[in-house]
Formats: sequence, C-alpha cells, structure tokens
Amino acid sequence: MDVGIAESAEHAASLAADAIENLLRTKTEAVLGVATGSSPVGIYDELGRRVSTGRLSLARASAFMLDEYVGLRAGHPQAYRSVIDEIFTRKVDIDASRVHGPDGTADDVKAACAAYEAAIRTAGGVDIQILGIGTDGHIAFNEPTSSLTSRTRIKTLTKQTRIDNSRYFGGDINSVPTHCLTQGIGTILEARFVILVAAGPAKAEAVRQTVEGPVSALWPGSALQLHPNVTLLLDPAAAASLTLTEYYRDVWAHKPDWQRW
Ligand code: F6R
Repeated sequence: MDVGIAESAEHAASLAADAIENLLRTKTEAVLGVATGSSPVGIYDELGRRVSTGRLSLARASAFMLDEYVGLRAGHPQAYRSVIDEIFTRKVDIDASRVHGPDGTADDVKAACAAYEAAIRTAGGVDIQILGIGTDGHIAFNEPTSSLTSRTRIKTLTKQTRIDNSRYFGGDINSVPTHCLTQGIGTILEARFVILVAAGPAKAEAVRQTVEGPVSALWPGSALQLHPNVTLLLDPAAAASLTLTEYYRDVWAHKPDWQRW
C-alpha cells in the first residue's frame, strides 16, 4: 500500500487526476470506478478542468458507481445516480449512457445486484477505482463486519453513516435511507488499481486502521491491504494518526516516476 501525504486535499485531488490522465493516455476506453460523497469531488473538478483545456478526454471511457441508496425515487436529488451526474458526469465529457450504477429502485434486488456484477465483468473490469472512506471505516457502503469477499448486495447502513450523511438530507437522520446496494469488498478488490482519498481529522482513525491496523472486517478499509496496487492520497489531517509517517514520506519522495502510477 502506498501512502501519499499531500499538502492539502486539493493537492491530493490533483495527484489522483494525474493517475487517471496517465491511464487515459494509454487506454482511452478505460473503465473508472467512481465514488460519490464529498471526498472525490476535487478529483472530478480537476478532471473537468483538464477536459475543458483539451488536456484529456473521457469521451471513450466508461464508469461504474460504487453504491446507491435503496428507497429513494429515481431522480431524487440525493440518489447517488443524481449526485454522480452532478459531481462527475456533467463536469467531464464522458457519455452519460456509459456511467453505470446499481439500481436501488429494483423490485428484484438480487437480480439487480447480479446484473451489476455482470456489467462490470462485461466491461472488462475496473481500471482505476476511486474510493472515499467512512468515519467508521466503510469503503463503498461495506459497513463494519462486511465479508471481505462480499459481492454487490443490499446492506443496512450503520447509524454513524446515516448521521454522517444526514448533512445531505437537511440534517435529518430519519430522511437518510436505511439501506443501500453496494459493490462488495470482493468486487472492489478486483479493480486493477485503487486510489483512496481522505481529508480531514474525522477520517484519521479510519485511515490508521486501513493502513496500519490488522486486516479486519471491523474496519473494512483494511481489506485493501490484500490488494497489490493501492494508493492512499491524504491531506495532513487525515494522515495525522499514522505512526510510520516519516517512512511513507520517504517512500513517496524517492519513488521513481515509472513506478508512480
Ligand atoms: C460513496 C461511498 C462512501 C463514501 C464515504 C465517505 O460512494 O462509497 O464509501 O466514500 O462514505 O464519504 P465522504 O466522502 O462524503 O466523506
């Protein structure tokens, strides 16, 4: 696992955009895994800036969302499909019909989850998966005690996640859905490269457990230790509880360019 401690969240976002730009240079039809929430917004903004100056294009790329709430009508402003349209799809030149998400309105949830897994496989798998992390250590919506080999399925959100996300629902936890469809940890671990971005002190413990804790279903992010190609891009506050900080900085500073992305 590589740990990049950036100067700021904006700097971390720009490094993640570098990785995506580098991929698109050699693979215009790249498959991106896109997280929702606040953490990746800076990355999508930076990609949008680079698209608008002609530096890169996502016109031939496709994208797969990590998760979706269950119980919100299609088009609800907080449905993750609406959020990803707003924060990602509209900002870049990707074809909206190639941005996919699990169907949180499906009557047959099991079939919808199986279809989503199949769609990812048919697309050739995810080249770069962008992740955020919850304060309770969840990745996608794999809450603590999720199976480390789980696939896309329905999950119940923890109270902590519903409290954290109530900021998008007028501060009312009761308006935050109780369930979601989410890619499993096993699904995420099949992405070829994973970039996790985290900023702010509220993420420091989850980041510490992810990087330096034991691999444990109690901190789902720690499952990333099982993946051979993961980079965490952190702001200083999110990195504040790590113990081997000096080592991470040293590794990052001396990484040869060819090894960077
Ligand atoms: C979103 C997702 C979640 C978020 C996490 C952090 O698609 O999968 O795991 O990444 O809840 O959310 P923010 O970035 O809003 O702090």
